[in-house]
Amino acid sequence: MDSLTTQSEQSTIVDIIKLLAAAALLIGGLFGYYYYLELSLPLRVLMVLGGFGSGVAMAMTSMQGKMILDVGCGNGYYSLRMQGDGAKSVIGIDPSMLFMMQFKAIMHFMQSVPVFLLPLKLEELPCNTPIFDTAFSMGVLYHQRSPLEHLNQLYGALKKNGELILETIIFPGNDTYFRNENGRYAQMPNVWHLPNIKELYSWLKMTGFKNIKKGRIEITTTDEQRSTEWMTSHSLSNALDPVNKKLTIEGFPAPHRIIIACNK
Ligand SMILES: C[S@@+](CC[C@H](N)C(=O)[O-])C[C@H]1O[C@@H](n2cnc3c(N)ncnc32)[C@H](O)[C@@H]1O
Repeated sequence: MDSLTTQSEQSTIVDIIKLLAAAALLIGGLFGYYYYLELSLPLRVLMVLGGFGSGVAMAMTSMQGKMILDVGCGNGYYSLRMQGDGAKSVIGIDPSMLFMMQFKAIMHFMQSVPVFLLPLKLEELPCNTPIFDTAFSMGVLYHQRSPLEHLNQLYGALKKNGELILETIIFPGNDTYFRNENGRYAQMPNVWHLPNIKELYSWLKMTGFKNIKKGRIEITTTDEQRSTEWMTSHSLSNALDPVNKKLTIEGFPAPHRIIIACNK
């Protein structure tokens, strides 16, 4: 997990992102839509995967020889990194056809590797098929109308003692966020529920997860999540209060992200 820090790897990441962006522009025209707010991948990669050093590394067992499920895999960037870190095979699932096409474009230029992306939602996988050693759900939980159901499905996909790596947004303090009619959080219309840390723990325990370990809670910065020449749409800075960056434009606490590792 600490293999993301060399300059040559960072420039490879940038090259891959440029290629992905070019593919997105090409294919986006065909499919007519794309996700805009959450595309600052290189820095999220550095934070989330490199950031295991700051949080989950202490908790997470190695990828070596593992059968991995990457839920909400986007264009498969992390899935490929997981395989690069020694996973036996990775299955990434995401309902976005645009991301599937980006992955296909990348794979055209790569040697064949045991990473497979399927255009599916987690709830479309067969229930209770416990075949994975590790399941990742990064940036997905808060997009679910029923977060408990999402956790339940992750639980059902894991082998006994299998490991869940959950990356999500929480609310600081004791409050929680529930989406009300036409509500938005940081301008996102599809954020349904943001638990506080205690509530998230109780969801995980209710689902049956044990051995729950949390990484650091990070406030997402506008350096990390930002518009670039490759992603010119609105980004986090447009979603924050222009005067008080600790608040979203709607007046909620700005996004606090956490990584949790736990076992079935
Ligand atoms: C914020 S992006 C996160 C992408 C990637 N995991 C990351 O951390 O950068 C959320 C992704 O989850 C996908 N997604 C949302 N609900 C899902 C579900 N029920 N099952 C699988 N993927 C889902 C979306 O299509 C989107 O690509």
